[in-house]
Amino acid sequence: AHTSYLRADISVSKSLYRCQIGYALVPMIARGEMLGPDQPVILHMLDIEPAAEALNGVKMELIDAALPLLKGVVATTNVVEACTGVDIAVMVGGFPRKEGMERKDVMSKNVSIYKAQASALEEHAAENCKVLVVANPANTNALILKEYAPSIPEKNITCLTRLDHNRALGQVSEKLDIHVGNVKNVIIWGNHSSTQYPDVNHATATTDLKETPIKELVSNDQWLNTEFITTVQQRGAAIIKARKLSSALSAASSACDHIHDWVLGTPKGKWVSMGVYSDGSYGIPEGLVYSFPVTCDKGEWSIVQSLKIDEFSRAKMDATAKELIEEKSLAYSCLN
Ligand code: LMR
Repeated sequence: AHTSYLRADISVSKSLYRCQIGYALVPMIARGEMLGPDQPVILHMLDIEPAAEALNGVKMELIDAALPLLKGVVATTNVVEACTGVDIAVMVGGFPRKEGMERKDVMSKNVSIYKAQASALEEHAAENCKVLVVANPANTNALILKEYAPSIPEKNITCLTRLDHNRALGQVSEKLDIHVGNVKNVIIWGNHSSTQYPDVNHATATTDLKETPIKELVSNDQWLNTEFITTVQQRGAAIIKARKLSSALSAASSACDHIHDWVLGTPKGKWVSMGVYSDGSYGIPEGLVYSFPVTCDKGEWSIVQSLKIDEFSRAKMDATAKELIEEKSLAYSCLN
């Protein structure tokens, strides 16, 4: 009911056949997991030219799935067609790192992709289009997109750290043997990279109708300060090692969660993590896309304020900010 104002044209870019996230994501969107069971959607899927035929195969599959909420499918290799009229853009495509490539080489490829897509979104997307960047380096790709789409409000450009947030909930749930739905308010601070800081200082779990801080439930501070943090930080790499492919279903599922909560709101007393343009909250420099705890209402996110930050957290929050500052200057050097 809340979503009737949305036309809900959704653009998913790109390389569905190389990148499994897109292939996992489109049926989730078309089944209502992103915008709810009452919101019809029109999917725009963008891919690169060599993948055009495979992309058309995905369109055929979507037709074959006879999905009641799916009101249209655009499968295209034309960025303008992909972006025209979209209310929500999920950017899953990026240039993958190949053997022998330096970080800077990957960054320069991605920076130019995001620059081009920023211009297409700016000119052709619906007014107030919400953008979620998933492809790595997600925070910095989002920042480049923001720079090259100055007419899109900066509040509308975000990156995915809900995957890390959900991973942190999952680790706590496994440790305590509590259902993941009963754990809340973990925080991912900073970059979607191995410097991110998964923070449980304000997280709680509900058992027998009683809400208790995680810090009290996990008797072992040592685990929370070491293994928990590194497991979440390294989870993407662990998935790649196990699957020989990067995470796809969990990335797609958390991308749905991100947009769902952003558009439809977070429940009372609960926050989520989103990579957003820093306004200087918690002493994080403005001009970075940094993951913060946020609540959402009426399609707008707000950073949760006034959380107490101890020395341990401060150091970790600053370290991940420092990495983002370095990425930002590397990205700019690739542009110039
Ligand atoms: C993930 O967190 O699973 C991915 O960002 C990992 C990667 O490098 O593709």
